[in-house]
Amino acid sequence: MKPMRLTPLAFGLLVSLASLASPLLVGCSAAEVGTSDGGAGGTSFDAVYNDVLKPKCAGCHAYGAVGYRAGETETSLDFSSVERAFATLKGKSAGMSGNFGGCNGIAFVVPGDASKSLLVAAVEQATRKAFSSGTCTADAVSPMEAKVAISGANAKQIKDWVNAGAAR
Ligand code: HEC
Repeated sequence: MKPMRLTPLAFGLLVSLASLASPLLVGCSAAEVGTSDGGAGGTSFDAVYNDVLKPKCAGCHAYGAVGYRAGETETSLDFSSVERAFATLKGKSAGMSGNFGGCNGIAFVVPGDASKSLLVAAVEQATRKAFSSGTCTADAVSPMEAKVAISGANAKQIKDWVNAGAAR
């Protein structure tokens, strides 16, 4: 085998490429923590946040975010950071008006029981159709799963996190 030789110019180029790429690589590996297993085991809250809540939901559910109707902001959930997302979900209930008022006061998350968690009912059709808690039934739950592109794997990730105790 011939030893590989680098001209000083090529070497310099490689070094600068490597230093350019390294911050990107660091960002990548952090983002991939939750996605590497396709969501099946990524059920820590950080994984749920990075894989689902941040990319798929924070565009509307964050203070100042634009809702899906022009000019509308949906602020009862704040997914603008992982800390805020956790605080906004745990021990909190919905405060909706209009068509979705039937779900006022219903917990977003009931640790250990996805079938009673409004968050899960919003992202998974099967849970939503079977949802029943006082006046909060299938028709009163806002069907986020029908309105935004959320995959079955991502919905399952949220569900598994809730069923595992919804810890952080
Ligand atoms: C395009 C904007 C938009 C996106 C993206 C979005 N939502 Fe919503 N969401 C809304 C609006 C607006 C409402 C208010 C009810 C309605 O009009 O459906 C709502 C209502 C909800 C509710 C009902 C309870 C409440 O008080 O807000 C839940 C739970 C919810 N969304 C979760 C999610 C989750 C989880 C995601 C990500 C998978 C998501 N949403 C993505 C706009 C959005």
